[in-house]
Amino acid sequence: MKYNLGTVVVLLSALKCYPAWREHVVVVLYYLLCNSCYIFSLKTSFMKWKPDYDSAASEYAKAAVAFKNAKQYDQAKDAYLREAESHQNNRAAYEQAGMMLKEMQQLGEAVLLIEKASMMFIENGTPDTAAMALDRAGKLIENVNLNKAVELYQQAASVFENEERLRQSVELLGKVSRLLVRSRRLDEAAVSLLKEKNMYKEIENYPTCFKKTIAQVLVQLHRNDYVAADKCVRESYSIPGFNGSEDAIALEQLLEGFDEQDQDQVSAICNSPLFKYMDNDYAKLALSLRVPGGGVKKSPASPQEAAGTTGKAASHAAEDDDEYSSGLC
Ligand SMILES: *[C@@H]1O[C@H](CO)[C@@H](O)[C@H](O)[C@H]1NC(C)=O
Repeated sequence: MKYNLGTVVVLLSALKCYPAWREHVVVVLYYLLCNSCYIFSLKTSFMKWKPDYDSAASEYAKAAVAFKNAKQYDQAKDAYLREAESHQNNRAAYEQAGMMLKEMQQLGEAVLLIEKASMMFIENGTPDTAAMALDRAGKLIENVNLNKAVELYQQAASVFENEERLRQSVELLGKVSRLLVRSRRLDEAAVSLLKEKNMYKEIENYPTCFKKTIAQVLVQLHRNDYVAADKCVRESYSIPGFNGSEDAIALEQLLEGFDEQDQDQVSAICNSPLFKYMDNDYAKLALSLRVPGGGVKKSPASPQEAAGTTGKAASHAAEDDDEYSSGLC
C-alpha cells in the first residue's frame, strides 16, 4: 500500500488535541506504514477515553513484529521501545529493541538496551533470563569490543554464580578467560583461570581441571612467572587422576624445558596434539612460547650461569618466603 507521509503527519498533529487517543493513533499509523489491515481491531479501544497502556503495548508488539518481518529495523526498534515504555514491566521488549539495533549494526546501543533489559530481569526476580541476555549481548559485541564483551560475560557469570548455577557460570568464565588471553590481559586471565579451575573442581569435572592447568601454565610462562606456573602444576596433584595423566607428564616436560631454556623441548611439547587442539587462544599462546635467554641452553655444568637473565633468580627468592600465598595458583 502506498501512503502519503504528509497525510500521516497532518493526521498525527490533528489528533494531538486528543491525548487520550495518542497511543492508539500511533499504532494505527504503524499499521498504515506496515501495510496492515488490523485497524478494525482497535475500534473498541477508540471508544475509551483513557489511555489503555496494556493494549497499546500489545499493539506495539504486533507492529514491531510486522516491521521486523519487513526488515524495517529502525521502525521495529521504535515500536519495541514504545512497547517497553507503555508496559512498565516489559523487559523483553527492551531486549528486542536491542536486537533491532544489532540488525542495524548499532552494536554499542544494542548492548546498552540489552543491559538495561537484564537489570530489569534481575530486579524482577528472573536472574537466569538476565544472565542469558548478558551472554547474548556479549556475543553481539565480541568481535568489535573485546573489553565490553569481557565485562558482559563476567556479569553473566556472577549472576549465575549467585544462583549457584555453577555449570552455566563456569562456561561463561571460560569465555572471560579466553577473551582476556586474546586481549593480552594475562594477569587477569591468570585470576580468571584459577577461578574456573576451582569451579570445575567443585563440580568434580576433573579432566577439565587438567586442561585448565595447561592453560594456567601457558599464561604464567607468558607472564614470565615460572614459579607461579610450577605452583599451578603442584597444586593439581591434589586433584584425583592428575598424577600420571598425559597432561601432568606433558606439563612436567614443559616446565623442565622452560627451566633449562631448552626451546626444542618446549616447542615439541607445545606442538603436540594436547596443546595444539586446545581452544585457539591457548593454542596460540603455546605456539608463541619462547624460553627465556633466547634459547641458549643452560650448561648443566654451571646451572647458575643464566639464572640472572631470566627473572628466575628473583622468582626463586620469592618462593622461599612466599611458597603458597601468591593466590594465583
Ligand atoms: C604420583 O604417583 C607416584 C606413584 O604412583 C608417586 O610415587 C608420586 O609421589 C606421586 N606424585 C605426587 C606429586 O603426588
